[in-house]
Amino acid sequence: MAKITAAKLLKMKQQGEKFSALTAYDASFAEAFDKQGIEVLLIGDSMGMVLQGHEDTLPVTVADICYHTRCVRRGAKDALVIADMPFMSYATTEQAMTEAAKLMRAGASMVKLEGGSWLLETVTALTERGIPVCAHLGLTPQSVHVFGGFKIQGRNQQAADKMVNDAIALEQAGAQLLVIECIPAELAKRITEALSIPVIGIGAGKDTDGQILVMHDVLGISTGYIPKFSKNYLSITGDIHKAIKLYKDEVAAGTFPSDEHTFN
Ligand code: KIV
Repeated sequence: MAKITAAKLLKMKQQGEKFSALTAYDASFAEAFDKQGIEVLLIGDSMGMVLQGHEDTLPVTVADICYHTRCVRRGAKDALVIADMPFMSYATTEQAMTEAAKLMRAGASMVKLEGGSWLLETVTALTERGIPVCAHLGLTPQSVHVFGGFKIQGRNQQAADKMVNDAIALEQAGAQLLVIECIPAELAKRITEALSIPVIGIGAGKDTDGQILVMHDVLGISTGYIPKFSKNYLSITGDIHKAIKLYKDEVAAGTFPSDEHTFN
């Protein structure tokens, strides 16, 4: 696989080629995923749950993400490495610039931030200063206490329209990728078609440009339950490398996610 950049993912979108992403937190898994051609590796703050055993992502710190980004960077050869900005590390634009710089110095090639219109100034400031941004809309887990739980977002017309407008505004502010999480498939399709930049879905149906899953869900070892939108590929293949290849192949072929993994 050649080095993956945001420009390469954009080209894939334009050519209708689907790409796959996985969370990764260490060098060994990063290398294994990279070898199977997974295009994007995310050092997700999902580590709060799957590595640290917390109930949500809120306890994760910038130092935690930096440590795991350094590990993943050493294992990843070609994949685009994105680091999550954790809870309250980008509450102001100034703070975002300081904290994002730490993640870039740890080896990230892009940072991911959760939020809509309130983030526009920050997205522009980071981009102008050389820090590429992946935005994140829908069920943004850092807002779990505002949502009152891990609930599907964008189900009514007003919320759906706001999400489409936020997505367009984030692209105009400079975001180069967008993750949309746990929203109805029809809304995800609308957002994907409205944007020029690649859109990566998780629990957002089959029509996004790319798919992302938490690696522990793909391997069936998450603490707690495996979400409806995920799929345990290890139980099908019995081998980690084959499991990752099957995930990539199914995303590329458009057979994952199927109806059983989709919200309407
Ligand atoms: O933290 C994470 O792993 C994420 C993905 C689920 C998109 O944000």
